[in-house]
Amino acid sequence: MTTDLRIDAQPDVEPDLQLLATATFVTADADRGAALELLRTVTLDQPPAEVASARILATAHGVYELFLDGEPVAPDVLSPGWTSYEWRLAVQAWDVTDALRDGAARRTLSARVGNGWWRGDLGFSQANACYGEEIGLLAALEITYRDGATQVVSTGTDWSARTCDVTANNLYQGQRIDARLRGDGAKANPDHRVTPLTLREGAFDRARLVPQVAEPIRRHEELAPQRIWRSPSGATLVDFGQNLVGWLRVEVEGPAGTEITVRHAEVLEDGELGVRPLRNAAATDTFVLSGTGVDVFEPTFTFHGFRYAEVAGWPGGLDPEFDTEVGQGAIGEAIRAVVVHNAMRPTSSFSCSDRLVDRLVRNAVWGQKGNFLAVPTDCPQRDERLGWTGDIAAFAATAAFQYDAADFLHSWLLDVALETAHAGHVPIIVPDLMRHARFDGPPPFPEVAAQAIWSDAAVWVPQALWQAYGDLDRLAAHYPGMVAHLESVEPLLSETGLWDAGMQLADWLDPDAPPDQPWAAKAHPGVVATASFYRSVAFAAQAARLLGHDADAARWAALAARVRAGFRTHYVSEGAEGLRVVSDCATVYALAICFGLLDGEEHARAADRLAELVAARDHRVTTGFAGTPFVTWALSEHGHVDAAYRLLLERGCPSWLYPITMGATTIWERWDSMLPDRSINPGEMTSFNHYALGAVADWIYQVVGGIRAAEPGYRRVLVQPVPGPGIDWARTSLDARVGRIETAWRVEAGVAGAAEVKTGGTTAPRTFVLDVTLPVGVPADVVLPDGTRHEVTGGSHSFRSALPDPA
Ligand code: BGC
Repeated sequence: MTTDLRIDAQPDVEPDLQLLATATFVTADADRGAALELLRTVTLDQPPAEVASARILATAHGVYELFLDGEPVAPDVLSPGWTSYEWRLAVQAWDVTDALRDGAARRTLSARVGNGWWRGDLGFSQANACYGEEIGLLAALEITYRDGATQVVSTGTDWSARTCDVTANNLYQGQRIDARLRGDGAKANPDHRVTPLTLREGAFDRARLVPQVAEPIRRHEELAPQRIWRSPSGATLVDFGQNLVGWLRVEVEGPAGTEITVRHAEVLEDGELGVRPLRNAAATDTFVLSGTGVDVFEPTFTFHGFRYAEVAGWPGGLDPEFDTEVGQGAIGEAIRAVVVHNAMRPTSSFSCSDRLVDRLVRNAVWGQKGNFLAVPTDCPQRDERLGWTGDIAAFAATAAFQYDAADFLHSWLLDVALETAHAGHVPIIVPDLMRHARFDGPPPFPEVAAQAIWSDAAVWVPQALWQAYGDLDRLAAHYPGMVAHLESVEPLLSETGLWDAGMQLADWLDPDAPPDQPWAAKAHPGVVATASFYRSVAFAAQAARLLGHDADAARWAALAARVRAGFRTHYVSEGAEGLRVVSDCATVYALAICFGLLDGEEHARAADRLAELVAARDHRVTTGFAGTPFVTWALSEHGHVDAAYRLLLERGCPSWLYPITMGATTIWERWDSMLPDRSINPGEMTSFNHYALGAVADWIYQVVGGIRAAEPGYRRVLVQPVPGPGIDWARTSLDARVGRIETAWRVEAGVAGAAEVKTGGTTAPRTFVLDVTLPVGVPADVVLPDGTRHEVTGGSHSFRSALPDPA
């Protein structure tokens, strides 16, 4: 097995795409479902020991895997991922020096190509969107020998092609693998043969080739079944204990031609697999046994979002009565759930005294794993799995804390900018494959123009990346996309600077909206849109200043001032009852406070009203996509820490912890994706793995955990944990680019050590104890609950501070 080398995407390290100039894009006509297998014998020009270096560059229309003598060249799957293929098709590169040097002089280089996103029939409402009808491969192997000679083997019509054991593959529908068509299986089953195919040159635009920016998609954890049992209808169900994204790897032995069918679902309903939320995604894999021993199946040309699998056709049955031996393997070992996502570096940890909050945070991490597969998606299971821009606009800050998401989101932002240039505004889905939809009749929904929050992703995602990583080159790369967004919305503003015309998704999935009208929120769409646009323009002004675009900085500052003035004039009022924002609901106060639309004392008055509204609803959540990431911030930063904690810790529906009480292992799309009676929400749009409402994790890391970036990229850290009622201790860590930052705090009964109490000598009933660890040389300001501020640099530091009486 070879080591793999990802092309480093730093702008100054351009991979040599020239190598592919000698390659021909090859395709073949086969059944639309079948994967292609392409093969070429490679005879080394010199003895293998003379190989100094060797690398393979490749990409595909479709998804592909490369093999040398049948061994995978790399652990990557679903390459080349999904980009806006009209303009960017990512090239992967692997170092195969060892594999060639340590082998024979005659090798077989082969590839399998499946439909992937290219010929995916993707999109909700049966859009059947495809980029093209031909799938195929472009690849080149370059071997450099010790004497400097080179040998290049690249794709061309001199390769051979055939069908393979993958007889059907589709991201939504699943995959069929027939082991009778492989090696020994084929010998034993002469009636089942792969079909030779004629290779031909396919249509291919080399101008679209770009080095891969995002980390490759790879397998990660493997989960064993936690339970296997019979459902009321007699189906065999397997529970993996975690809602995850990937597939099953199955090892099984049985008579030739036996068909095992695996259906996947995130939840159970009435004791059976709950597949209704999958809509038109069959999410079903079929494995056909060879009859020649143990067959291993792994459907790597599809993926599913699931916790449960229904397995039918297992030879001898797969149920608790039969749980020891299946062929040569115990059942528990015969089935594994394989977790698949882009190989980003995990960066966070969190635990606290409330186990439900711990689970909520873990669910936000699992939400990112499942939805950072090729592009940041809304959800990974139903007939959607699209790059909905609003979802990542809400979640980007959380994502950038949990993983080093810089390259993954940078790649996606490059597509956002290209799609924006094409559409004239930031589309609500990137890559915007709905352009390629093939509906039977006219599209079942109207075309949507620029949308607040969704289109603001062009600014908010770069803003989150800037804050987390402090990379000015990347900010510069994202700046033109930001400008394109602002310029597309500016003409839509009213004379007084409001974004108040046109349909808005706005505070999507407000829990008070009717289930079939998720846009019908309490928050006035103009308030949400104008506030969101103000946030974008204000950050663009800051970015322009940082990048030295002084004229732009002045332009955006002036636009920001106009939008802000409009917002204040039309949407904010002060009367006998106090400060009011139009539509008077939690979301509008959260946005006005957090986006900088209020002055001085107004913040406190708005937060007071917000706290009143929150209390009036018994600390149940009342916000949707727009307000949810900000409501706890608006409270905790303006005198209502208790209300923020009560909101976080509420367990009744709707709340963040309600799904946890129902056993959720990922963040749900709806506050009540599952109703208290355990039935699935009747809305046709109900997923159990949507990260957007998990954006509260950002507040948990920064406010409960207390790790904040005082300067972008944590070059200076603000350590300011804010304890509140219901949580007695918390431990948080962040592997930032500057190094590891850790906080651990606990509340102790009694009085802090006299010398260390910072309360001016008054006794206090409880003590806040904080341990902080910082990377060497990184300065931090530590702010304690008693308001004192301490400047420290690097190393470990401990603090004690009195806490006010909880009463
Ligand atoms: C998606 C959402 C998305 C929304 C916007 C839904 O179908 O799953 O997460 O943002 O549509 O319309």
